[in-house]
Amino acid sequence: MDISDASRTTTQTVTDYDRAKEVQAFDDTKAGVKGLVDAGIVNIPRIFIRPPEELVEELTSHQTNFQVPVIDLDGVRGNKLEEIVDQVRAAAEPWGFFQVVNHGIPLNVLEEMIEGIRKFNEQDVELKKEFYTRDQTRNVRFNSNFDLHYSRTANWRDTLTISTVASTNLDPNEYPEVCRDAAREYIKNVTKLAETLFELLSLALGLKAEHLLEIGCPKEYILLCQYYPPCPQPDLTLGATGHSDPSFLTILLQDQIGGLQVFHDNQWVGVQPIVGGLVVNIGDFLQIISNDKFKSVKHRVVASQVGPRVSVPCFFMGHNAEIPKSYGPIKELTSAENPPIYRDFLASEYFSKRFSTVLDDNSPLHQLKL
Ligand code: OGA
Ligand code: NI
Repeated sequence: MDISDASRTTTQTVTDYDRAKEVQAFDDTKAGVKGLVDAGIVNIPRIFIRPPEELVEELTSHQTNFQVPVIDLDGVRGNKLEEIVDQVRAAAEPWGFFQVVNHGIPLNVLEEMIEGIRKFNEQDVELKKEFYTRDQTRNVRFNSNFDLHYSRTANWRDTLTISTVASTNLDPNEYPEVCRDAAREYIKNVTKLAETLFELLSLALGLKAEHLLEIGCPKEYILLCQYYPPCPQPDLTLGATGHSDPSFLTILLQDQIGGLQVFHDNQWVGVQPIVGGLVVNIGDFLQIISNDKFKSVKHRVVASQVGPRVSVPCFFMGHNAEIPKSYGPIKELTSAENPPIYRDFLASEYFSKRFSTVLDDNSPLHQLKL
């Protein structure tokens, strides 16, 4: 059978069924992907199977020896500042991704956060179900696939979201008890690190150190606590479909399993976990306000037979709750020769565009171009 036969055959099996109904039935279990694994399934449900053209394309993609830059933040408040700013610029321009070490967050804070999320997912399913909702106005919510009802393919992943975007009055008592202390401690630390990174990014853009802080970049956050159960047929699905992030900046904590890949130089490059390291990436909002100087790069997570994998990206969102602020290309970064590429936008406007298309289609970035 040649490749075109393969796609034709699989197209029938993938599309000739009532997808919406199967998606709803899965959602109604409120047990997520982990519920399927616990039930002992051997073949993954078809709502998770990627379209045939994607599976075929995957066969021709190859491995690379590229490595996302690693930046040592030791000395950032001293004589290493200039050197570190140069490294941040060199990473943020072509890669949009880097890892940081010696960032000041104690290893036990990182490990306890990962452990807390693992425990949340592995506790009695009835306790988890109390958090299961798609109501975006809830600060703390658990579900499987935020885009389950409109994506082409569901991802092999469950998510606990902790967000200040719906309202700034996020009370830690709302956090699930099993991970409450760990999450409080992690959020406190990661927010402080975000401030340092926004100072470095401001300097790397040639602005004064406080610029990105003054416009509120680290103000609000969305913490996505991701749980990727082991998958019996990892070649047929993904942990997370390729996307760029809806944030100014994302700081991601991951365990040692691996699976995150960045699209660089036309290839998928694996982001190797580093003990005590954190992954940092530029989001769409920073690409816009930097007028394309920094790039928000597409990334994804592959599924694996090994797991579970836990990761915790924290999206820094700027001002959204209460008085939403509009953002656009920074005046100091534009000129007659380098005119603004994007118009000003509100995060809510960006999200309404993003949530009306499937994740890997045209990102809202293109729709905000002048
Ligand atoms: C995300 C994401 C990567 C990961 O949630 O936006 O890219 O490793 N996650 O979980
Ligand atoms: Ni992402």
